[in-house]
Amino acid sequence: MNVRDKRIVIFGGTSGIGLATTSMLSEMNAKHIYSISRNPEKSLLSNSNIELVKMDVLDESKLVSFFEKIGRYDILINAATGGERAIGPFMKMDLEGYRNSFKKLWGYTNSVRYGLQNLSKNGCVVLVSGSPARKCKPGQIALASVGGAVEAFSKSIASEIMPIRINVVSPGIIDTPMVPLEGSEREEFYKKVTKENLIPRAGKAEEVAQAILFAIQNDFITGTTIDVDGGWLNS
Ligand SMILES: NC(=O)c1ccc[n+]([C@@H]2O[C@H](COP(=O)([O-])OP(=O)(O)OC[C@H]3O[C@@H](n4cnc5c(N)ncnc54)[C@H](OP(=O)(O)O)[C@@H]3O)[C@@H](O)[C@H]2O)c1
Repeated sequence: MNVRDKRIVIFGGTSGIGLATTSMLSEMNAKHIYSISRNPEKSLLSNSNIELVKMDVLDESKLVSFFEKIGRYDILINAATGGERAIGPFMKMDLEGYRNSFKKLWGYTNSVRYGLQNLSKNGCVVLVSGSPARKCKPGQIALASVGGAVEAFSKSIASEIMPIRINVVSPGIIDTPMVPLEGSEREEFYKKVTKENLIPRAGKAEEVAQAILFAIQNDFITGTTIDVDGGWLNS
């Protein structure tokens, strides 16, 4: 699919991977991009084909009215984190924190359930999982469980929603505002957590956005996952 002149909905489009994707789609002359998050005023992009929308992807009634209001569109992307992520060993984890990590999955499934009514039959969906889904390191059980569920969801629903295509992009460690550290502390963190990867550095949001664009543009893929992880799975 050529993104030129397409109408696009992107959840989490105001920061990190979603922001980089919004920026690329805008430069490629998408007709209209609804870039959605809870605090869209934080976005630095103000191109004329981008409309910032303030909405929580977990708010089902707002989602229903939003999709009714916008009518027919072509591409649905969800890169929203959904809420807090629980990190640490499962046996010591606050179970409420573990359960809350699934807000990302509920946000994704909400957007697919309510967003597909008006998605063009030639349209496509892209969701974002994460490397722990298929190679979990100690302390990543919540990330692995949620990412695994996102990938299973996409793979399973692909045959139900055809000819609409759905794919997942799975990032490794990517330098985005999701990690709140600053300065040398931030540098040390990324150095430490990527040192065993085949490409020992944090990825850039743009490198993941390129894979999201590939999933949109390649009309011969559906129900699959594209890894952009610096060799995490092979390390
Ligand atoms: N960065 C990494 O290393 C990494 C690795 C693996 C997977 N991922 C996945 O990649 C995706 C993007 O992450 P990122 O690094 O780009 O994170 P980010 O920079 O923190 O961006 C997340 C975006 O999601 C929005 N958002 C979060 N909860 C929302 C909600 N309930 N409703 C609407 N919007 C919501 C945020 O805006 P508001 O907070 O203003 O709502 C923000 O725009 C996530 O699914 C993440 O799990 C990231």
